[in-house]
Amino acid sequence: MVNTVINKAKELSYREAGKFEETRFEKIHNVIFESSLEASVLVAHEIANLIRRKEELNEVCVLGLATGSSPVKVYEELVRMHREEGLSFKNVVTFNLDEYYPIDVDNIQSYYYFMHDHLFNHVDILHENINIPDGTVSDQDLHQYCIDYEMKIQSYGGIDFQLLGIGRTGHIGFNEPGSHINSGTRAITLDYITRVDASQAFLGLKNVPRKAITMGVGTVRKAKRIMLLAWGINKADIIKQAIEGEMSSQVPATYLQEHENTTFVLDVEASSELTRVKTPWLVKSCRWDDELKRRAVIWLSEITNKPFLKLTDKDYNDNGMSGILNEEGTAYDLNIKMFNKMQHTITGWPGGKRDVDDSCRPERSEPAKKRVIIFSPHPDDDVISMGGTFARLVEQGHEVHVAYQTSGNIAVSNEEALKFLEVSKVLNSNSTEVDGIIHFLKHKSKNDIDTLEVRKLKTSIRKSESLAATRYVGLSDENVHFLELPFYETGTVKKGKLTEIDIEIMCNLIEDIKPHQIYAAGDLADPHGTHKVCLDVLFEALKLLKFKSYMKNCWVWLYRGAWHEWEPYQIDMAVPMSPDQVLKKRQAIFYHQSQKDGVMFQGDDNREFWVRAEDRNRATAKKYKDLGLADYEAIEAFKRFYF
Ligand code: F6R
Repeated sequence: MVNTVINKAKELSYREAGKFEETRFEKIHNVIFESSLEASVLVAHEIANLIRRKEELNEVCVLGLATGSSPVKVYEELVRMHREEGLSFKNVVTFNLDEYYPIDVDNIQSYYYFMHDHLFNHVDILHENINIPDGTVSDQDLHQYCIDYEMKIQSYGGIDFQLLGIGRTGHIGFNEPGSHINSGTRAITLDYITRVDASQAFLGLKNVPRKAITMGVGTVRKAKRIMLLAWGINKADIIKQAIEGEMSSQVPATYLQEHENTTFVLDVEASSELTRVKTPWLVKSCRWDDELKRRAVIWLSEITNKPFLKLTDKDYNDNGMSGILNEEGTAYDLNIKMFNKMQHTITGWPGGKRDVDDSCRPERSEPAKKRVIIFSPHPDDDVISMGGTFARLVEQGHEVHVAYQTSGNIAVSNEEALKFLEVSKVLNSNSTEVDGIIHFLKHKSKNDIDTLEVRKLKTSIRKSESLAATRYVGLSDENVHFLELPFYETGTVKKGKLTEIDIEIMCNLIEDIKPHQIYAAGDLADPHGTHKVCLDVLFEALKLLKFKSYMKNCWVWLYRGAWHEWEPYQIDMAVPMSPDQVLKKRQAIFYHQSQKDGVMFQGDDNREFWVRAEDRNRATAKKYKDLGLADYEAIEAFKRFYF
């Protein structure tokens, strides 16, 4: 984590354009927070203060609102303030940025539904003060409808406060690349990437509308105050382009560079590509702690295309890193130090190697036989993300347990479920229950949520697949635990809130096993995904259990989920795989048949999970090789978490 840059400011204070500290590159004021929750609460408070100020003046407060995952926690905090602190929305008029087109208001994917579900149904806003572009207007009326929407905003004197998210295309609202700086409210064709990002919510790309109605860039830019929210690593590249790039219609968010009162509110991961965060030594003098040194030397090796041991004093001086040499002496000494540091992360003994000096190894040698829990958010992350390490732990005689935190039932397609039902009909041809479920699945419409029976069936499909895989790795069934955490069991993509029950289930398992090692998916800043919730529930359990004596001997290792890998400087343990071990891992992933070939929640990467896992593990091995370390077929990477 790049804690050094976290902004702990308790006020999101506006600074004039041009007054940016510690950077030569940034063109938009931005603040970085450790967590999206902390940031969202502050944004909500700024909105609430504005509403109250306007109320005192007897004025209407005009809010421009966004949907998507980014503003969800802002709305939660506003609702909390309404309930607990009497914040009233009676003087508030809202204009939503956009809506899919065409779409019905009762479609659960419509922004109409979203806004009522997250905000409007829970506060005292007057129905007539809510404005959301209407996804049901006819084609002929659309043009005039957009003009009227724009005029209505202007009739209130424009927007006082505009909340924004940012798409990976750089869109604000649905102003996709190519939008004009002065554009007004209009219909627009959505970019492919935007549709892919929405495909999870719509249960498949084919269901995502191709068009939308959106406020224009010009509409947004007329707002008196703008706050754009971005969370998670997926936004890091586009945030860098928006803040540091030249203004261009190809990245519409860059148009905000010329707005006088815009703040980008980021979490650490979304800010991670900014120059001042990624390579701070290029923009300011740094306090060189061990992590920063490792990061900087790896970066230098990458940009010069040289292994550690060939970096020269000149390389350091030419690339803004003379400060590090002042502290460390010569490049020669520093290179060897970094080489050894990375070398010591590599081990073929993830559970520790018995009877050897472990002072330079990532894991302790004692106890020789460790109790291990591998927490897997979905029933396949264990083998996808750490299948090689999992197999080694079993082969090396440790007592390994796998705990699948959620049932993963939502990711089983109806076609897959039907297949199993039809097979079961062969054995049980008179079952009216099976007939009923087959009928339900065949006639299910887009908005129908799976019945409990169907969810049970889909859960058991994933259970059988998991058992097939864990048996293949050599684990006995009693070491496999299906936690089916309740927060996940909504039957929809939107999950429930973590509760005491989820935490208790986690605590009970840890208490039973008293592990020496815990592995978990460490997707720290994925704001809406199941992985983040599964990590949060582990952290909550650790908070409760950390004072137990057995926990003093428990080390926690975080692997990364299906999408991203740790950066080399973050890796504390690197477990290499031979070509045969890679094949074995592939086979274990294959047992998860419902997740193969056209899986439901693929994101914008249409490689299958086993291909992604192999590419990623090979890429890590190549990075080690390029740094001048040994040349392995593949490497799985872990970061130690201290609790
Ligand atoms: C939503 C909107 C979009 C989203 C953007 C980011 O009203 O206008 O611009 O803000 O697509 O979406 P999330 O927040 O889901 O990543």
